[in-house]
Amino acid sequence: MTSAIAIAHPNIALIKYWGNRDDLLRLPSNGSISMNLDGLFARTQVAFDPAFTQDSLSLNGREETGKALARMTGFLDLVRRLSNTDIYAQVISENNFPTAAGLASSAAAFAALSLAATHALGLDIGERDLSCLARRGSGSACRSIPGGFVEWLPGNDDQSSYAVSIAPPEHWDLVDCITIVESLPKNTGSTEGHRLAGTSPLQTARVADAPRRLDICRQAIINRDFEALAAITELDSTLMHAVMMTSSPPLFYWHTSSLALMKEIPDWREHGLPVCYTLDAGPNVHVLCQGTAANQVKGRLEQFPGVEQVLPARPGGPAQLVENLISTL
Ligand code: PMV
Repeated sequence: MTSAIAIAHPNIALIKYWGNRDDLLRLPSNGSISMNLDGLFARTQVAFDPAFTQDSLSLNGREETGKALARMTGFLDLVRRLSNTDIYAQVISENNFPTAAGLASSAAAFAALSLAATHALGLDIGERDLSCLARRGSGSACRSIPGGFVEWLPGNDDQSSYAVSIAPPEHWDLVDCITIVESLPKNTGSTEGHRLAGTSPLQTARVADAPRRLDICRQAIINRDFEALAAITELDSTLMHAVMMTSSPPLFYWHTSSLALMKEIPDWREHGLPVCYTLDAGPNVHVLCQGTAANQVKGRLEQFPGVEQVLPARPGGPAQLVENLISTL
């Protein structure tokens, strides 16, 4: 038996990925930028053993079958092909953050799985190839491979679509106050959502304007310019949701308290608080602020009607093998 354990953080997109040019390869319609979320992680253990008669997956202590297992097996087939083997694997994965956070937990899970599975099979592939591989599991997973503030270069084929770090975690003390407004069952998942993006007449315009937004966001991060980051992050989030709401069938992810927060937060900013919002494919609101304002922002959010919980997360590092992590402690 050969095995390895890796951890990876989820990430929050500041410039969003929504829609693919190629659904199978998960080649995105546009580039995206995100921040890894420290403190939150998926921890994934992979063991390959010739004695196994099939792949198995335990997710947060529950044995998975059906869709989740099939998706993981399809992904492991890619890894097996890379190392010319047909040995089955046992995968045990746990998130240390509540499922209710509505975070794209698949990003952290597939990033950790990519690293642990390749390492367990003795494949020593670099960050770029690992990011390409993680992308095949879940697009945004490619952004959880490098550390800190990350840009996914859309590319035009399997090898040219990967993510790179544009600044390390310590570059900028930003905090994502993940604001949970609803712990209801999941909405339409992102894999299905990406397929619908092209049915919105707004998607072409959103994609065409993406290079401009990416430039503004990248520069705002490099210059630690919060005002510029706030404006482009909020615009980009609303553009993605406009596409979602106008696709066929339409996808409405906002709840009344999400919208109330979206109206409130720019007001706080106008009154001097360095704070802005962004929403992924769910009702919870990611409230980004400068570290100096984090306590005040968290306090205000906890008082806000409809808010159930606030989880603060600073910029996080890259996906790592647990053995490396222990040796650097
Ligand atoms: O990687 P996926 O298929 O889970 O898609 C992620 C989609 C969003 O979270 C809505 C946006 C993004 O860029 O993370």
